[in-house]
Amino acid sequence: MQHFLDINQIDQLQLRGILDDATRIKTARAGLPKGTLDAEQPLAGQMVALIFEKPSTRTRVSFDLGVRQMGGQTMVLSGSEMQLGHGETIADTARVLSRYVDLIMIRTFEEATLLEMAEYATVPVINGLTNRTHPCQIMADIMTYEEHRGPIRGKRVVWTGDGNNVCASFIHAAGQFGFDFVFSGPATLDPEAGFVTEARAKGAKIEIMRDAAAAVRGADLLVTDTWISMHDSQTARERRHNQLRPYQVDDALMAEAKPDALFMHCLPAHRNEEVTSSVMDGSHSVVFDEAENRLHAQKAIMRWCLKE
Ligand code: CP
Ligand code: NVA
Repeated sequence: MQHFLDINQIDQLQLRGILDDATRIKTARAGLPKGTLDAEQPLAGQMVALIFEKPSTRTRVSFDLGVRQMGGQTMVLSGSEMQLGHGETIADTARVLSRYVDLIMIRTFEEATLLEMAEYATVPVINGLTNRTHPCQIMADIMTYEEHRGPIRGKRVVWTGDGNNVCASFIHAAGQFGFDFVFSGPATLDPEAGFVTEARAKGAKIEIMRDAAAAVRGADLLVTDTWISMHDSQTARERRHNQLRPYQVDDALMAEAKPDALFMHCLPAHRNEEVTSSVMDGSHSVVFDEAENRLHAQKAIMRWCLKE
């Protein structure tokens, strides 16, 4: 039994194996109607709990669909409707759920909740996003980059905006998959220093640059995300927007990247805030391929978790 908690905690060969499996899974059912089963049914007879303490469109739908295509069944649970939201400990919740289901996916606020769930569950636990990281997203993103442009190793990936949870998982991935990563945003929104130090120790080149245009020059991949995440307070909205406006991905910024650079966003996007519609809908953008690949990557992650 293996948990999928964060990209920096999983062996590089295992991560590569998951991505190879994701591509194989995607290819195997190309063209099939979405509601049909895969030829292989590795989750036959298995029950999966999908717990959401925050809203979700992609994670919810792609996990649910992925389980069903692999022959399993799902229970989608909202944190606030569970006793978890009303004082029952996470450890007890983990022990109880482990008696009912074969796999738990949780989207939560504090990373400590995820870790406690993983410590006390006797079934695999998958991180479906915390305030700190979003590893399933970045597995799908690397799959998407490589599908379009080949190996990501040695490429220049530039992130503009907030050094948030999605950015953190990209930094983890830089250390594991060997690409260069540039963060460009205001100093107050820098990614956690520990993430940067750890990726550098693994041999990744991680740079922090305040000037967005200079950072994006020569980029193979340009990525951004919302300026205000689900765990951020809305009260500082105007200040955040003012701070982050110089990091908006518009056509001029995109033009600083290599001519064949890709643009990614985990979505949901706030059009004409962190990215203009012209970039979202433009020729560099692969945002909907990313969203699709959540399905294939997570099916591979679930298979990996449940592997004997
Ligand atoms: N990108 C992502 O995780 O989207 P949802 O919040 O819709 O799940
Ligand atoms: N950084 C965003 C990602 C949403 C998928 C958030 O945490 O709200």
